Amino acid sequence: MSTRIARTTLTALALACIATLGHAQQGKLKVGLMLPFSGTYAALGVAIENGFKLNVEEHGGKLGGREIEYIKVDDESDPAKATDNVNKLIKRDNVDVIVGTVHSGVAMAMAKAAKESGTVLIVPNAGADAVTGPMCAQNIFRSSFSNWQPAYAMGEVAAKQGKKTAMTLTWKYAAGDESVAGFKEGFEKGGGKVLKQLTVPFPNVEFQALLTEIAAAKPDAVYSFFAGGGAVKFVKDYAAAGLNKNIPLYGPGFLTDGTLDAQGDAAQGMLTTLHYADGLNTPRDNKFRTEYAKMFKLQPDVYAVQGYDAAQMLAIGLAATKGDITKKADFAAAIEKAKIDSPRGAFTIGKSHNPVQDIYLRKVDGKENKMVNIAVKGLADPARGCKM
Ligand code: PHB
Repeated sequence: MSTRIARTTLTALALACIATLGHAQQGKLKVGLMLPFSGTYAALGVAIENGFKLNVEEHGGKLGGREIEYIKVDDESDPAKATDNVNKLIKRDNVDVIVGTVHSGVAMAMAKAAKESGTVLIVPNAGADAVTGPMCAQNIFRSSFSNWQPAYAMGEVAAKQGKKTAMTLTWKYAAGDESVAGFKEGFEKGGGKVLKQLTVPFPNVEFQALLTEIAAAKPDAVYSFFAGGGAVKFVKDYAAAGLNKNIPLYGPGFLTDGTLDAQGDAAQGMLTTLHYADGLNTPRDNKFRTEYAKMFKLQPDVYAVQGYDAAQMLAIGLAATKGDITKKADFAAAIEKAKIDSPRGAFTIGKSHNPVQDIYLRKVDGKENKMVNIAVKGLADPARGCKM
């Protein structure tokens, strides 16, 4: 008799535990959005947040059956504040997943903290090669690109266009350095030569002395990495100096994405490479663009797509784990075998957790980065140093 009572009590206890666990899993999923909401990359942070939220709204405010609670941090694109900022989300707010960020230097600090704590991190922009290279981990994913990807493609395109010499001009930090390295690899493989690598500190926009140096050296082409507010100023300064008439300015598509309203005539005709373009005219992209414009009264750009796809990847992992993000092996396995139905075109996630994707050649025409062709099909980052 007493054993029966004990058993009944135990069963009741076990059921209560299961109920509590189940309840916890059905509670809100805390998403830490760590993005720049001020500074030269502010518009990029907003587009990523918008894209993410659009996808969540398309699923009735839920991902993988769980309602979403957002906790936002403005990282100011400042690597010096990055560790403190990400630890606020991990330790103070106890978030289930972190989505961020734009700036490669900040993203590397986030990847380190995510690796140490085991918190799932989805990077919706920053291309830092290391994040899906030496720092790669089961719980770290990227919905965007590696700095190497669009840069390598642009190097190949420039060489194919018969350019023999190039100078580079970028911000001096991981994204600029790695973008130049990727361009140089593609360009020199195709027979070109990078003559000189010029830089300005991030986020400075004083280009005059360096533009004068380029005008005197007369390379066949210039390759630059800038984005956001800095890209607007640079493309305008390049044209105002008259350089665009004789020396084509190439770059990864960040140079002209989300910036054409402000760049106006200065950007017309520019060729860039990126994993997204305007005028793809696929049913998937058209639907995304219509919904985005309806919800935000804005045209989407590559950053909006990357935010949208970060939510799609999260949903895939959550669906496979019935909303339990702590089941990290199952969460990762689901994303690794998924085909992600992106507005950019379907892509897969490689072993290092970086997208394997088509890189488009685009040409600025009015307010659009119109697709010219696919520069490189299914380009995978080499993931140098990733052991997983
Ligand atoms: C980066 O820091 O990795 C970065 C920032 C802005 C972009 C692209 C890459 O548009």
